[in-house]
Amino acid sequence: MSIQSIHFSWQVFESLEQVPANLQPLIIQAREQTKISYAPYSHFHVGAVALLNNGEIIKGTNQENASYPIGICAERTLLSAAATVFPEVGIKVMAISYFNHRPNERSDTPISPCGMCRQAMFEFEERTSTPIQILLTGQSGQIYLINRAADLLPLAFSGAVLKD
Ligand code: THU
Repeated sequence: MSIQSIHFSWQVFESLEQVPANLQPLIIQAREQTKISYAPYSHFHVGAVALLNNGEIIKGTNQENASYPIGICAERTLLSAAATVFPEVGIKVMAISYFNHRPNERSDTPISPCGMCRQAMFEFEERTSTPIQILLTGQSGQIYLINRAADLLPLAFSGAVLKD
């Protein structure tokens, strides 16, 4: 028997001003992007903005549906758009923000991407051989900077095991 461990560290910034200047516009845009999300059921509005390896910007929002399971998260909306418009171009950095419009809720702590999106970001990273830096934020408060999607999914299931 042996014990294995995985160490994960990330950067925490106390405010927008502390974030490296080149990343600040992405955070501002992700916060802004939440305003056009379609979330009439959860009232949890998510926006994602990515800078691609070719310098282009791609955005996503969560898109809900009266048939709840059909809804898609902002991150996966963005990944689908990126892979459609610029096939095989890697993502350098993705900023993700939210606005929780439910009564008495706040939007001042960093968002935490769901497991499905972590898996999708991990595969995007693998297929483009580009680590995706991930900025997690609310409308204010702390901002997390993660080095790569794989850090958010220890022992990830990889398509490598399905290839001949
Ligand atoms: N959601 C996202 O778009 N991204 C996340 O990281 C977390 C959750 C969406 C899905 C759903 O429309 C709403 O937020 C509430 O779960």
